[in-house]
Amino acid sequence: MIIKSDILILGSGVAGLTTAIKLAKALPDKKIIVATKDRKEESNTKYAQGGVAVVWNKLDSFESHIADTMRAGDYENNKEVVRMVVENAPDRLQELIDWGAAFDKNKDSKYDLGKEGGHSANRILHHKDITGYEIQMTLLNQAENLPNIELLSHHFAIDLITQHHTEAKQTTFGDPSITCFGAYIMDEQTLAIDTYVANITILATGGAGQVYASTTNPVITTGDGIAMAYRAKATVRDMQYVQFHPTSLYEPGKSPAFLISEAVRGFGAYLRNDKGERFMLPVDERAELASRDIVSRAIDNELNRTGADCVYLDCTHLDQEAFVKHFPNIVDKCQSIGVDVSKDMIPVRPAMHYLMGGVVIDKKGHTSIENLYANGEVSRSGLHGANRLASNSLLEALVFAHEIAADIISHQNKLDKDLPKVPEWNAEGTTDPDEMILISHNRKTVQYIMTDLVAIVRSNERLERALDHLDYIYRDTEKLYKRVTLSPQIVELRNLNACAYLIVKQSLKMKENKGGFYSLDLLD
Ligand code: FAD
Ligand code: SIN
Repeated sequence: MIIKSDILILGSGVAGLTTAIKLAKALPDKKIIVATKDRKEESNTKYAQGGVAVVWNKLDSFESHIADTMRAGDYENNKEVVRMVVENAPDRLQELIDWGAAFDKNKDSKYDLGKEGGHSANRILHHKDITGYEIQMTLLNQAENLPNIELLSHHFAIDLITQHHTEAKQTTFGDPSITCFGAYIMDEQTLAIDTYVANITILATGGAGQVYASTTNPVITTGDGIAMAYRAKATVRDMQYVQFHPTSLYEPGKSPAFLISEAVRGFGAYLRNDKGERFMLPVDERAELASRDIVSRAIDNELNRTGADCVYLDCTHLDQEAFVKHFPNIVDKCQSIGVDVSKDMIPVRPAMHYLMGGVVIDKKGHTSIENLYANGEVSRSGLHGANRLASNSLLEALVFAHEIAADIISHQNKLDKDLPKVPEWNAEGTTDPDEMILISHNRKTVQYIMTDLVAIVRSNERLERALDHLDYIYRDTEKLYKRVTLSPQIVELRNLNACAYLIVKQSLKMKENKGGFYSLDLLD
């Protein structure tokens, strides 16, 4: 079936929904489809804890937020983009508040601004320790009340449609003549793959945490958008920069890992090793509040040095009443595994959390492919450089949603252009798989290759070995992909493997250690 819309948005997290709402309000006669592969609320956005960074009062300044973002990013950031995001933050946050998002206030009825690693001021707006849930629900509520948005849950985008499909044209990476005409999307209830044609397509499919065995990201984060864009020959960069969050709750065998927000350290918690020592003190003048790359590496070093499985977050000296008020969800979770934060230390270790790399976009959200925009974690805007500053991700998506919507609105004539004839998906010659174990085994194998060989500390030998293993999985998966009826599982495996390959390949090109990339072969 061919389904036409003016604008097709893939993903219903903060990036997809904010862009959809802005476009739907400004262009009430245009049809916007938001297709999302799981339940409409399932996303990384929903799990965000700490909050959104914003310069909110005179005690803080744009220059200070810019300087902190650049320092955390190891100065690999695009300073123009950093300035644009930081300076637009107050307006975008006010808009979100006007749409109904409630952020915590203090006893003077002023916003209670939290602190996180790498920030030199208190500037994090938050809703207890479930800020993401508050934002996700606010946005869904707005989107569902706009009649020109059609929100399709359990609709899985398989591939972008370009001239490769319409004219069987062969193209090269970054070729500016490549144009996007929509996407092939699977209805997960019927497994039918329909052709969604659109004048503008926006990728908002989020990150790729599931490339690793241990991650704070939910199971949907399989890098689909990055892999689709890469297959369509868009420019993809900085995949070597992977952020490991220092403090995921240590629960052996549990995946995804529950996050213990950085805001807990911002509230005054200490990191201690198994001897009770505060090992961050000699590492960085900011101690526990150094940027994530530095803290995660220090923990990794500590675990290797001591042979322990985890380090500890000590909250026992903090004002317990205030702590419970700020972090009720974290306190509950700890209690559920027998950890009383007022008396016991919380066992933690680093887990994959955020991908700085992705589909390259400019300041208006354009990818290298005509009529294809990207927003959020799927994109690489230049804001984060080599390592994202805490709570700058939700902010990035809010600001770029505004820029993308403004750009589309000012080029509305594009929405009236005729589209070429697009062939329907061809599933000829495929049959149902005999066993799903081949697919699930390969998914786990990719995750363990990456966790064992391409994690916080890398080396050329480990990277080369990972590449060999991934190459085998690639060939095996391609054989399966051509043979079996498509399912979300096989498509996710293919996408995970593509992202893993890109992380390894782009790591091997590095000449210097920066932020979320660190190799033993490049020590000074
Ligand atoms: P997501 O919110 O992940 O949304 C992606 C959407 O795309 C989902 O709806 C998904 O189902 C859909 N999708 C994916 N693939 C397909 C496909 N093939 N077809 C159709 N749909 C698809 N950042 C902060 O700034 N502050 C924080 O406090 C914070 N805390 C965090 C805590 C946790 C535990 C985690 C995991 C992340 C946190 N982050 C935080 C990071 C931040 O939440 C994410 O980077 C951000 O929410 C990404 O938004 P997004 O819209 O780009 O992607
Ligand atoms: C956290 O609450 O520690 C996560 C914040 C982020 O990822 O920016």
